[in-house]
Amino acid sequence: MRECSAILSSYSSLLFFALIQLSEVMAKCSCQVMDQLVYVYDEYPQSVENNYIPHCVVVRRCSGYCSGEEFKCLPTLERNATLQVNQVLFTSILTFLEHQQCQCRSFTENLIFLLNTRSKIISYATADF
Ligand SMILES: *[C@@H]1O[C@H](CO)[C@@H](O)[C@H](O)[C@H]1NC(C)=O
Repeated sequence: MRECSAILSSYSSLLFFALIQLSEVMAKCSCQVMDQLVYVYDEYPQSVENNYIPHCVVVRRCSGYCSGEEFKCLPTLERNATLQVNQVLFTSILTFLEHQQCQCRSFTENLIFLLNTRSKIISYATADF
């Protein structure tokens, strides 16, 4: 009986720690830079499929929830990250676009952003709408 309640109480403490508070849930899924899985072949289609090892890499990209259908989570700052990957006989270096800052922008806000900055971000961002 005593053992049983000990097991029960440790189980309930497990349950307690497994509960992720709403504020944390909201914070984690809000528009921000996150680790994202990218298939090398998707970004380097000229390469022979599955020629690279690993087949996918993790890069930082904008993702997450914006309040309102009209808003999209889009980058405000980007950089190129250079990653080492293996090919069959040698190691090669590939460049992947990474997002460094994100923002929820509506279509109109994005057009204004487009006019104010003339970076490559724009064509990418507008293609998203
Ligand atoms: C990333 O590299 C591509 C290809 O060289 C270049 O066109 C682009 O401007 C670079 N982007 C950034 C943010 O440096």
